[in-house]
Amino acid sequence: MRVAIFSTKPYDQQFFTTANERHSFELTFFEPRLTIETVGLAADFEAVCAFVNDRLDAPLLERLARHGTRLIALRCAGFNNVDLAAAERLGIRVVRVPAYSPHAVAEHTVGLILTLNRKLHRAYSRVREGNFSLQGLLGFDLFERTVGIVGTGQIGAVVANILHGFGCRLLGFDPFPNPACASIGVKYVALDELLAQSDIITLNCPLTPATRHLINAESIAKMKPGVMLINTSRGAVVDTPATIDALKSGQIGYLGIDVYEEESAYFFEDFSQDGIDDDVLARLLTFPNVIVTGHQAFFTSDALKCIAETTLQNIADISSGGTCANELNVKRA
Ligand code: NAI
Repeated sequence: MRVAIFSTKPYDQQFFTTANERHSFELTFFEPRLTIETVGLAADFEAVCAFVNDRLDAPLLERLARHGTRLIALRCAGFNNVDLAAAERLGIRVVRVPAYSPHAVAEHTVGLILTLNRKLHRAYSRVREGNFSLQGLLGFDLFERTVGIVGTGQIGAVVANILHGFGCRLLGFDPFPNPACASIGVKYVALDELLAQSDIITLNCPLTPATRHLINAESIAKMKPGVMLINTSRGAVVDTPATIDALKSGQIGYLGIDVYEEESAYFFEDFSQDGIDDDVLARLLTFPNVIVTGHQAFFTSDALKCIAETTLQNIADISSGGTCANELNVKRA
């Protein structure tokens, strides 16, 4: 089977080429993102492999279907970027990698918490300039602090486990409570209670109509003043201008984000020579108590290996006419 792999970097090529030794698919790597402008590159490829910022809306899927694509293999867990109803209507099957390394994302989440709290990003630059002053670097013990986890699925559960080890008090909000989390003492509460009681709030839910701008001016007002907010889920779960207002007023004391609503214009590319035109992102980057990482939470060798292997196995399952446990459809989504 011919597979067109979009939005690729050298590291994707490396892990997919190795994983393909077991399959021998005809892989073609395209560096550009999959857009209506680049969709022509996918002509005559039965399978198209896409990533988080490839937006597979109805017009793009229609073009793919017309050019013979029958399978979309997402190499990510989130699938908010695919119009599943349109795919179903067009006879395009969609598979994803539901779990590759929840540890990678959870560990990055905790990394953001530790860095913001102990100001390691500032200490790093300061010490390298010969400045050993501690002024401005004061942190707090995580021990016995309350952490609210919004979304306690695979990633949220690992976050809970790690923070349980730190001795944090854990609150969870999830329409489907996770027994594994409850068994280590995560207390499930209503969202408003989680917002009001948490010293640290971490977002680990998917982006859905229910979670879009879940964090907005109104919900931020319900949080403890000086709260730490961490988002490693999807950018649009947070209304970013509302967080900027809250950072200015001090209502949010720390913000750590690995995802940003408008990230597709910038993330995964180098703009260090060009500057940032997005004034919201640029403003965020001015705060000393904000850390932005460029959607790198998943980026470990373990995760990339698993992503490549699972994606190619998904394609093999579908192409051999069998069922694939990682297939998405409108009902299951
Ligand atoms: P999962 O499906 O295992 O868990 C998601 C949990 O969120 C589920 O327990 C679900 O019931 C819950 N949930 C659904 N709607 C909710 C709502 N309205 N409020 C609160 N909780 C809700 O997914 P997993 O693997 O834990 O991933 C979570 C999200 O993390 C993904 O959907 C993706 O958007 C994001 N992600 C980010 C990565 C990164 O590199 N930054 C990498 C991988 C995933």
